[in-house]
Amino acid sequence: MAPSSKGATVPALLLTALAATALLLFFLLPSLSPIGSATTTSLCPASPAANAIVAGGRSPDPLSATQDDVSWLRSQLSLNRLGDPPSTPEQWHALRKGINPRTRAQQLDDLRQYKGISHHEGADAANHTALPCPGELLVEEHHSNYGEPWAGGRDVFEFLATASGLQPSDLVLEIGCGTLRVGLHFIRYLDTGRFHCLERDELSLMAAFRYELPSQGLLHKRPLIVRGEDMEFDKFGPAGGSQYDLIYASAVFLHMPDQLVWTGLERLAGRLKPGKGRIFVSHNIKFCSRLRGDECERRLRKLDLEYAGKRTHDSLLFNHYEIWFEFRRSKAY
Ligand SMILES: C[S@@+](CC[C@H](N)C(=O)[O-])C[C@H]1O[C@@H](n2cnc3c(N)ncnc32)[C@H](O)[C@@H]1O
Repeated sequence: MAPSSKGATVPALLLTALAATALLLFFLLPSLSPIGSATTTSLCPASPAANAIVAGGRSPDPLSATQDDVSWLRSQLSLNRLGDPPSTPEQWHALRKGINPRTRAQQLDDLRQYKGISHHEGADAANHTALPCPGELLVEEHHSNYGEPWAGGRDVFEFLATASGLQPSDLVLEIGCGTLRVGLHFIRYLDTGRFHCLERDELSLMAAFRYELPSQGLLHKRPLIVRGEDMEFDKFGPAGGSQYDLIYASAVFLHMPDQLVWTGLERLAGRLKPGKGRIFVSHNIKFCSRLRGDECERRLRKLDLEYAGKRTHDSLLFNHYEIWFEFRRSKAY
């Protein structure tokens, strides 16, 4: 009985497998033909999103959270019975069930004293860390450098990326990127080498290079981050070369002498892409409003720039809005 039942089962299985393969090829082959080939009939019109998937291997990440995303998060909080967060230190402490949180200073002490719970000792230690990072950076002290919550960097990215119609292939320059609170999100979204930054502060640059880029897995994006404070852009390529789709300064121009801002604008105007290119400046534009009459407008016009208006955007995570001033090339091209 056993051999005959085996003999009947194997061809049946083989036939089923052959039929399944034929069916799969039938559906798969047309989708492997070149797009737009005369023999291909497409049931759906090609959408920009579909094109993006074909061109880049996957669609770019969405720029910001949608209402659906927010509803999904609320549903997950509810499903997991996570009600309103505690409102007093005692309630937070009860949630921690007796575990005392470490401050950054205590964490740093622990790190110096005990290194890690398991760690390599002596000369052996040097063989195990390709990028030894100072403890001060490992405990993320630099996330509190500017008063603004670290999470606000995402809000700024979402606003600027949406306002400028950002594409992964765009070229972006940040003036004063600091510790990459905002810049990280651009670097992650943009294609390799498409994020540039001019920053003057040694500690911020150290945090950016020695901690943020490696810890976020973004070394492969090769951002061009240059140390400098004189609004000097030669290291980003010749003035007549590639032009920026977006240039922005987040909480920077208000800390600079007005004359330096104007010098910067003079050097940047020709590096801004005509038509699409935008310059966004946050907080205020006192370098402009401090000038009398229509002097600001006159200076901008001389640089082939014009003021396009003021915008605000809300934060996703905390009650805060930010004010942005938009500039573009003034001549029609
Ligand atoms: C308030 S922080 C903002 C950092 C970052 N844009 C952010 O939003 O997280 C201002 C940054 O501008 C930088 N900065 C100020 N003047 C500068 C100059 N002349 N050239 C380059 N960077 C400058 C500072 O070093 C600092 O990192």
